[in-house]
Amino acid sequence: MKYLEVSDYRIHIGPAGQALADILADGRFTKVALLVDTNSEKFCLPQLGHNNLPVIRISPGEQHKSIQTCTCLWQQMMDLGMDRHSLLVNLGGGVIGDMGGFCAATFFRGIPFVQIPTTLLSQVDASIGGKLGIDLNWVKNAVGVFKNPLAVAVDPRFLKTLPDTELRSGFAEVIKHALVADPALWNQLQTLKDLKVVEWEPILEASLRIKRDVVQEDPFEKGRRKVLNYGHTIGHAIESFLLSSGTTLTHGEAVAAGMVAESFLSVKHLGLDEDKLREVVETIRRFYPPLRFTEGDFDDLIELMKKDKKNRAGNISFTLLPNIGEASYDQFVKEDSIREALRFYLRTTEELRK
Ligand SMILES: NC(=O)c1ccc[n+]([C@@H]2O[C@H](COP(=O)([O-])OP(=O)(O)OC[C@H]3O[C@@H](n4cnc5c(N)ncnc54)[C@H](O)[C@@H]3O)[C@@H](O)[C@H]2O)c1
Repeated sequence: MKYLEVSDYRIHIGPAGQALADILADGRFTKVALLVDTNSEKFCLPQLGHNNLPVIRISPGEQHKSIQTCTCLWQQMMDLGMDRHSLLVNLGGGVIGDMGGFCAATFFRGIPFVQIPTTLLSQVDASIGGKLGIDLNWVKNAVGVFKNPLAVAVDPRFLKTLPDTELRSGFAEVIKHALVADPALWNQLQTLKDLKVVEWEPILEASLRIKRDVVQEDPFEKGRRKVLNYGHTIGHAIESFLLSSGTTLTHGEAVAAGMVAESFLSVKHLGLDEDKLREVVETIRRFYPPLRFTEGDFDDLIELMKKDKKNRAGNISFTLLPNIGEASYDQFVKEDSIREALRFYLRTTEELRK
């Protein structure tokens, strides 16, 4: 077992069943319950063990990250006799972690919870940093709190059953971490060909270290934590635009396209080396399908970017890269440059789209 210490908790990297046994060893909790969705129950619970714990299950999917589901969860926690000295263990992807954490953080004004993330996205991103919450009528993460878990257990074995699209979705955040903070990790990622046969543990560890260091320095996103928005200004706009027009895509696919466009902006505005831009384009083309929008959609995309909460006085804000492994936040970019960057994305993926 490896450990990464965060401000007031610990990330265990290794077999999650063992990590949970260590966390529960002193027997101090009056009750311990496991929250799962039906996929994490099927694919991950048998590996976790701890068959004696009561299980609270929900259906999988972002549409269940809602106050209605929370009401059911709180009721079940109450029915199980959980009190202020009980523990909730969240076994699943980011939906389970965000919502289970939120339910725990508000139940009797807050009980401890453990995150056992089972998707790549939740392992490298959602499970650390203290952001918890639910969606409100399709506004993502509209209601929530910041609260750290008691502990996190990251077990690479859970990734074996994860569908390819989900692996790719989380991998975009791994790429992002490397680009903003770790040139050595970036070099390693460029050698990967097939996400199904990756030895994940060292990559998870490197990626978690980056997120840990950033959120520790700036837990409430006042400054440096904004570097984690790399690829997300354009990525979020593309994601909202395509989802609203009925296209299905994952968050990571949108962020990957955003990183191509924002790397172009990095060359133009902060002098990122053109060879590095080529590396980003090639790596992302290897793993991600081209996204289907056209020049006629640019106005709508820019309108969506203007709604981004990171903007100031109507100027669209970006995190950009002067070099691989360095990131500079609060970079304000004019609309013409953004259009050029979107055009660049379309050009680089043109032949794949045919
Ligand atoms: N709190 C944060 O800082 C933070 C950061 C990023 C994302 N998020 C949130 O995370 C959520 C997305 O997380 P996600 O991508 O993990 O989504 P998810 O929880 O919906 O999981 C994706 C799918 O994989 C299934 N699954 C989970 N583990 C599996 C496994 N080991 N094998 C097979 N299937 C498995 C799930 O049942 C689900 O169908 C969003 O709600 C997003 O807002 C939060």
